[in-house]
Amino acid sequence: MAQMIFPQYRKGKVGIDIFPGTILEHARKLGVEIASECGGEGICGKCIVRIERGQDGLSEKTEAEKSFNLGEDERLACQAKVVKPTDIYVFVREMGEYTILADTVEDRMELNPFVYNQIRTTTLVFKVIDLESGERIATISRKNPQASYGDDVISRAGYTMNHEGELKELQQVVVKTINESLQELEGDMGEIRNSIYEAVAVGNSTMRSIFFGIDVSTLCVESL
Ligand code: FES
Repeated sequence: MAQMIFPQYRKGKVGIDIFPGTILEHARKLGVEIASECGGEGICGKCIVRIERGQDGLSEKTEAEKSFNLGEDERLACQAKVVKPTDIYVFVREMGEYTILADTVEDRMELNPFVYNQIRTTTLVFKVIDLESGERIATISRKNPQASYGDDVISRAGYTMNHEGELKELQQVVVKTINESLQELEGDMGEIRNSIYEAVAVGNSTMRSIFFGIDVSTLCVESL
């Protein structure tokens, strides 16, 4: 089956079978992070990619793309859709890597939370706390996978309003990240899932609501 390959991702050895969706949708499914400040609305121009092979497998340039000064082989990942079964090689211009602040001043906590989601929307930080001593025994930090649906909480909340079923998708990407983090911890510490007695998730209103699968549309409504 024809695939979409991102040469910067796992040295181009792992791709994704193509389906009739945008490049951005393929990237999200594969776990490739493409900057997408507007959440895929064709407004920010952050998701520019270069098509190294397989241009003819993609849709014509949209009006949104024409409004940006794109090179001949460049496309907006959120606009270019797969229309033909052919291998497509995509070079991402902005993948963005940065350091996540995971440390806190206090290592002992009175409330003994298991999962602590730091109050920033670009990152997720997980901490494992010993419920008897209150001591932190492990910390894992991750870039928030929701970033590819919009750089800020307003874009992401807007995304769930404009795309049916996307609230569930945004929730699932975080849940998947938590599960993968637990798996990674188990790689270091051995089986821990049967020893989890309490989980606490902390975040801003949008992050928290999406995590629990609660409609966030009212958070975007301006009151006059
Ligand atoms: S133009 Fe903003 S994500 Fe594509």
